Order: sequence, then structure tokens, then C-alpha cells
Amino acid sequence: MSKKIISLVLLVSLQLASGAFAQIKPNSYAVSSAHELATEAGLSIMAQGGNAYDAAVAVSAALAVVEPASSGIGGGGFWLLQSHDDSLSVMIDGREVAPGAAHRDMYLDEEGNVNRDLAVNGGLAAGIPGAPAGWVYIAENYGTLPLSVLLAPAIDLAANGFPADEKYVTLLGMREEVMNRWPETAAIFMPQGSVPEVGDLIVQTDLANTLRAIVENGHDGFYKGEVAELLVEGTRAVGGIWTMEDLANYTVKERTPITTTYKGYELITAPPPSSGGIAIAQMLNLIEAYDIDQMSAVERTHLLSEAMRRAYRDRALYLGDTDFVDVPIDLLLSKDYAAGMRTNLRLDKATPSSMLADDPDIWPEGNNTTHFSLIDAEGNMVSATLTVNLAYGAAYVPPGTGVLLNNEMDDFSAKPGAPNAFGLVGFEANAIEPYKRMLSSMSPTIVRSPERVAVIGTPGGSRIITMVFLGLLDFIDGHGPDSWVSVPRFHHQYLPDQIFIEPDSMSAEDVAALEALGHTVEEGSRTWGNMHGVMWDLETNQMEAAHDPRWSSGGAEVVPVKR
Ligand code: DON
Repeated sequence: MSKKIISLVLLVSLQLASGAFAQIKPNSYAVSSAHELATEAGLSIMAQGGNAYDAAVAVSAALAVVEPASSGIGGGGFWLLQSHDDSLSVMIDGREVAPGAAHRDMYLDEEGNVNRDLAVNGGLAAGIPGAPAGWVYIAENYGTLPLSVLLAPAIDLAANGFPADEKYVTLLGMREEVMNRWPETAAIFMPQGSVPEVGDLIVQTDLANTLRAIVENGHDGFYKGEVAELLVEGTRAVGGIWTMEDLANYTVKERTPITTTYKGYELITAPPPSSGGIAIAQMLNLIEAYDIDQMSAVERTHLLSEAMRRAYRDRALYLGDTDFVDVPIDLLLSKDYAAGMRTNLRLDKATPSSMLADDPDIWPEGNNTTHFSLIDAEGNMVSATLTVNLAYGAAYVPPGTGVLLNNEMDDFSAKPGAPNAFGLVGFEANAIEPYKRMLSSMSPTIVRSPERVAVIGTPGGSRIITMVFLGLLDFIDGHGPDSWVSVPRFHHQYLPDQIFIEPDSMSAEDVAALEALGHTVEEGSRTWGNMHGVMWDLETNQMEAAHDPRWSSGGAEVVPVKR
């Protein structure tokens, strides 16, 4: 290419980045979420003139009602808000915090072992929720419509009911026994006394009233007054330690997203207290020195697994809530650090993870959280991942509130080096402290070039990060969201020192070839994740939306607009 042509190409790209690119407006808007009723809620808000941020509030609140296994008013989440012209780029951190009376050894028994039951079931497992604070904050600061409009679909679904779907029924089956410890909670989710059939109506009257209290009194409708009193009373009645002060003190935080570049694409993703953005950036930095397009499937899986292993080692050692611990973010994100990581990486051999963990009690599924992606007709984008942690959170609702509590406290490291429900280990940086946010893997992400934009994310516990990594590589390979959400998944998380693969996702020869390189390959009995993506092609000005084929309940839709 001549110098003149190169400068012309550069000039055009720069103009795309700063001017013309920012001026393109979509000819449609789109939502992809884990439930078609939540997708409808978001589309209806945009049809009424609401922006992407309004729609995100409506989708979040509707998911809290129709997908209680995965996220909810008693949980938390991260909402990545990005305007097309970059005037807004922020992550709203509505992560739960540890109650004020929490302390680092709170889940240890007399022998110093973690009491797993206390860590995941009932009142002591729950952090102070951040989701309702997030909804109100986004509506008040970035939305255009009142909470009475934004929460209307959720209130309607709670008051009048929705039909249980396959996911509701499957995940409740996993939590039925624990939920039956608290008959008032069980009566809400199993109105006939046992796990409902697909199609049975689930009505949540108390939840509708709590949502109405938020419409009336905003943030204080949940965090102060009658709802807060019932939450504290009900949580303490089953071994919890919440106080009115804990609720009154809760605030969301605005966080600056992690950004990096890879092969001409810009990545905008989740900063701490998520570990996802840093880990994804580290993996991309590490692999960019290799020509992965020229590699065989085995070589590529090996390289990506080695990148995963190294990023998860740093996650265990360094990552935690940056309001409490110093995380060497600049170092971890630097391309030099990645070059250092490459020095002990061999393409012909697996590097064993240096420590061996106890046999971890991994939850094989990874659907008990939710992710939605949306873009409005101005090009504003939201990538949001929300959770109550494990299926149906702590499986307990403080009476009279309809608020299903999270069990997010298990995302802290309850004991140095002891694996949590996802087999993740952690140390000092993620130890429990009052009001600290527990480290998360949730990784709402946006990837863009002057030609194409992807809004992407998924649930899946510790595997979220590697799923988003594989999904965005597929986008960068030139594919659309139908493909990213479908790609077969594999995962390495440093400890245990294994590559996990989805059932039937790899040939016996490829498994044998990876084992010959020194890997242990563990084929799971179930698939994992529930990815939702939206893509905007700036060259054709078309949008595409897709939901994960692994579950049938997702809703992905593109609605054209006339200008
Ligand atoms: O924040 C986290 O990383 C976890 N609480 C997410 C949990 C999750 O994705 C559950 N799905 N398996």
C-alpha cells in the first residue's frame, strides 16, 4: 500500500472513530435476555420512547420476577452503560456488600473448616442487596421515564403471575429441599406444595408490594422504612446479621470500565469488584502475539487454556474490592506483563498449575445468574449481568417482603485457599470485611471496531469469564451473535488443574492430543452458561440479537424504527 493510501485509510478510520462513526444511528433497537417476558418489557419501554438505560431497568426488574433462580431484587449486579458517542461510559456497580457485623471467619466451624451450609443457605449467606439501588440510580441518573413506568411490567408479572418455564422448574428441583426448610418461602415458589409443572402460574403478591414501595419512595422504599424492617427482622430470624444501618448505608458505585485493544477492536468491560474485565484483558494481551487463526483446534484450545490458567491464578492472588485492597490493575493490564507471562508458556506442553487444591465441589451448570444485552435506536448500549449467586440464592424470603435473598457471601474467600461453590480459591484480597464487596466473575462487555459493535455476556459462575472470552473471539473472527452464543465451551481456572469441556463438544482425538500435551480434560455431564448478545453492524446499519440455544426461555428481538 502506498503512503498516500495508508494516510487516507488512517484518516477515514480516525473520522469514523471521532465523527462520522459516532453520528451513525441505528435503524432499529434490540434486546436479548434470558426470558421473553423480560425482553418484551424492555422493548415496550423503548417503544414508549425510553432509552437503553430505561429499558435496562425494566428488563432487570422483570427478570427479578420471572427468573428468580438467577437474579432479583434480593441480589445484585453490574450494568455497563455505554453511549455510542462515548459521552457516557460507566459501570454501575450494584454488587452486594458484606453486612457490618461480618468478619473473616464467620463461616468457619470449631475445627477451622468452612461450614458450606451456612455459606450458601439462609440468612447468614446473604449480602446486603444492590439490585434495587441499581435500578433506582440508573432510572434517576440516566433514564428519561419515571419508575412507575419502568417497574410497571415487573409489578404486573408479580401481581398477576407468569407461567413457570423449564429453567424455573429445573433449577428449583436443585433447591427444593433447602427451600422446604422455610415453609413461607416454599409456598411462594411451590404454591401447590411441590416443584410446579411447566406452565403453572407463579404469583408473587408481596414482591409486587415491595416493587410498589420502590415506585413510591425510590431507593428508600427498599432500604428504609417498613420493607427494610421486615428484611432485617426476617433475615435475623434465620441466623442472619443484617441491621437497619446496613441497609440505610448501601449505595451503588460508579466505576470506570476496564478498556483494552485486541486486533483493531476496542474492549469495554467490567472493572473490580468484578474480576472478569481484568482477566479477559490479560488473556487477550497474552494471545495477541500468536496467530491463532493459523492454529489447529488442539493448538488453539491449548493456548487459550494456558491463557485462562494464568489469568485465574492472578485472579486468586490479587483481585478483590478495590475500595478495600490495592489491586495492581495497571500492571496486570500492561502488554509487558503479558509478554512476561508468555516466557513460561510452551506451545508443546501444559504448564501444571503450581498448587493443587482440594477436590472442589463444582456446580456443573452455571445458569443461576442472568445476562441481557440491548441497544436503543440512538446507539446507546447496556450490557448487564445480574445475580443472586447460586440457583434461587439463599432459598429464603424474609416473610412479607417477597425478596428472595442472595447467597453472594460465598463469593468471598471464606478461608484462604479453600474453594467456594465454583471451585474458586482466593486469599487476602478477597477476605470477608464489613461493607466490602465480594469478588465477582460477572463480565458484562462491549467490543467494537469502526465497523461492528457487540454487546455480550453470560451467567456461569467462574466460567463466565472464559465464556465471554470465547464468545468475543468468535465475534472478532467475523461471526454474528447466533454463533457467539452457540460456540462449544471449554474452561480452565488454574485450580483445579483441568480443562473442562461441554458434553460432546470435542472429538476423542482432540481430547487425546490435549492429554498428550499434559492437560487433564474433564467432560461435564451438562452444558453451561446462558449467553445473550446483540450486534450492530455499522456498515449495513443492521442489528442482530441472539439468545443461547442451551435454554428455550430466552427472548431476542430486533425492532425496526422509521425515521
Ligand atoms: O458474581 C459472581 O461471580 C457469581 N455470584 C455469579 C454466579 C453465577 O453466575 C451463577 N451461575 N452459575
